[in-house]
Amino acid sequence: MQNGKLLLVHGPNLNRLGLRSPEIYGHTSLSQIEELVREMADGFGVATEGFQSNSEGAIIDFLQSYGPSCLGIIINPGALAHYGLSLRDCLEDISRPTIEVHISNVHRREEFRHRLVLSPVVEGQIVGLGVEGYRLAATYLLTRYTSDPGKG
Ligand code: DQA
Repeated sequence: MQNGKLLLVHGPNLNRLGLRSPEIYGHTSLSQIEELVREMADGFGVATEGFQSNSEGAIIDFLQSYGPSCLGIIINPGALAHYGLSLRDCLEDISRPTIEVHISNVHRREEFRHRLVLSPVVEGQIVGLGVEGYRLAATYLLTRYTSDPGKG
């Protein structure tokens, strides 16, 4: 049953945002990103549920519980983006509107980051725009949902 929650999911090492390689990922912490998305969703009268884990299985458990009834998912999978086939299968299974966000432009970085295994099962990807990527993803999902809740 649709409950209209917007999920914000982060993969391995993203609990270290703000501290980890700030020259690549900036100075904004994960809790600041969660706050930003929560405030945006509040403006649309929508609740959010944030989750971060360093373990692929824990992310899948979360998505299996909350995914089927959510309005959409913003996910920064971290390095799972490059090899997380179980996560890919999970997103395909729950089949909700999903935007994949990467803070850095992964295509400008090491070659192993160029392969994005979630591409076929997400609606869109935003890479390289820093924290702005989350704002754009939230605007897209919230606007789309509130303009036509049936679509969410
Ligand atoms: C990242 C890019 C990934 O390659 C990396 O493993 C991360 C962060 C990003 O947001 O730019 O953990 O997803």
